Amino acid sequence: MSERHYLTGKEIRQIAKDNAKEMRLLEKNKNRKCKEEEFLSTMNDPNNILEVEDLHSYFYTDQGVVKAVNGVSFSIPINSTIGVVGESGCGKSVTAMSIMRLLQGPSGQIKSGSIRFRANDFKRDTLGNYIPIYELDDSGNILKETITDKKGNTIVVDKVKKDESGLPLYEREEKVYDIAKMPIKEMYRVRGRQIAMVFQEPMTSLNPVFTIGNQLDEASMLHIPNITKELAKKRSIHMLDMVGIASPERIYDAFPHELSGGMRQRVMIAMALVAEPRLIIADEPTTALDVTIQAQILDLFNDLKKRINGSILLITHDLGVIAEMADYVIVMYAGRVIEQGTATEIYNNPCHPYTIGLQKSKPTMDSTKDELYNIKGNVPNPIDMPNYCYFKERCDKCINKCSGDYPKMVKISDTHFVACHLFEEKENE
Ligand SMILES: Nc1ncnc2c1ncn2[C@@H]1O[C@H](COP(=O)(O)OP(=O)(O)O)[C@@H](O)[C@H]1O
Ligand code: SF4
Ligand SMILES: [Mg+2]
Repeated sequence: MSERHYLTGKEIRQIAKDNAKEMRLLEKNKNRKCKEEEFLSTMNDPNNILEVEDLHSYFYTDQGVVKAVNGVSFSIPINSTIGVVGESGCGKSVTAMSIMRLLQGPSGQIKSGSIRFRANDFKRDTLGNYIPIYELDDSGNILKETITDKKGNTIVVDKVKKDESGLPLYEREEKVYDIAKMPIKEMYRVRGRQIAMVFQEPMTSLNPVFTIGNQLDEASMLHIPNITKELAKKRSIHMLDMVGIASPERIYDAFPHELSGGMRQRVMIAMALVAEPRLIIADEPTTALDVTIQAQILDLFNDLKKRINGSILLITHDLGVIAEMADYVIVMYAGRVIEQGTATEIYNNPCHPYTIGLQKSKPTMDSTKDELYNIKGNVPNPIDMPNYCYFKERCDKCINKCSGDYPKMVKISDTHFVACHLFEEKENE
């Protein structure tokens, strides 16, 4: 790392020039028109719903390039909860925003890497229309029905299959999209519909001037083809009921400011569930809530995972939350994954000195001390990362090797991996 903490005029101009070039290229790529084949992919493991591979997400700032996510890889198996844990600023939200393709451009960009997602998207005909599923008779002919059209005329049409709520059904097909390569305008196929996100502060995602019902209905109308207003309302009330709201009809007509923080977060979860997504990303969903409500919301997530038949990516800075909720844990530090394993492995046998530090910072019921343990020192400057272990300046277990190359991922068990030189030694023995 350079000792200097200021940039010369010449350096500033060079950074601006390099940034402009890079951002123009990446923005152009984001807004390109392309055939679907360009962003279709295949999963490495058919049991996964999402595979992130060597993801690099950068911010091009006037001070230099912030490598907020710097080569992150992890997978989410179908029907599982994956926890991402790490101190503030380590790249958790940027990872989530990259998956949703919500990084604020032109400064925030996915520079490289893959985000493969197994979508269950609507099938289309050659004109790009969704294909209804028709009711067939015993010999395979489409049944007919008589309906009244918008002008009041009685017409005979092919009979479309409906679900128990009366919603017309459309053909779907499994497709693997590489989200990192999708043009932004194609993201409607995925965002909100197949992957939904719950943020830390629900008030920022709810519109204060519309009722809860209004906003829930709108989400249905946006993601579900040909849903009527009547059905959207029925669905909204059902979702409010599903997230444990006691009087869903009353809350349907309420405004966001009339609800408590915990209720608002339940509404946000209901909104995320509207299109029956396969993956829910929850970014610190309970951080803004008080402790008892936190526990209730986490219970709700646990319950929902079973009911929606999907997966959850749960982001938090609290290792304790993760231990109770997640099947598998990803520990991030300074834009990298430094340890990963099952929740039991990470909780009972944390290997990386940073994970051990995180564990110690967790408040416990039997703790006699009032204050929290803090990992000493700070995260290195993200613009000027060293090429050795990023944790070195804060680590009390440093060995000679730690001044050398950045540590490789070392296998502790089939499911447990750690990037630390201490374990490379053990592996070689
Ligand atoms: N809009 C932005 N411009 C520049 N840097 C950013 C921006 N947003 C986030 N970062 C940087 O990216 C890094 C990761 O941030 P983030 O993913 O939000 O961390 P957290 O793990 O707390 O969610 C931090 O160093 C942060 O300063
Ligand atoms: S590689 Fe070295 S400096 Fe980094 S965490 Fe392991 S022991 Fe500490
Ligand atoms: Mg965050």
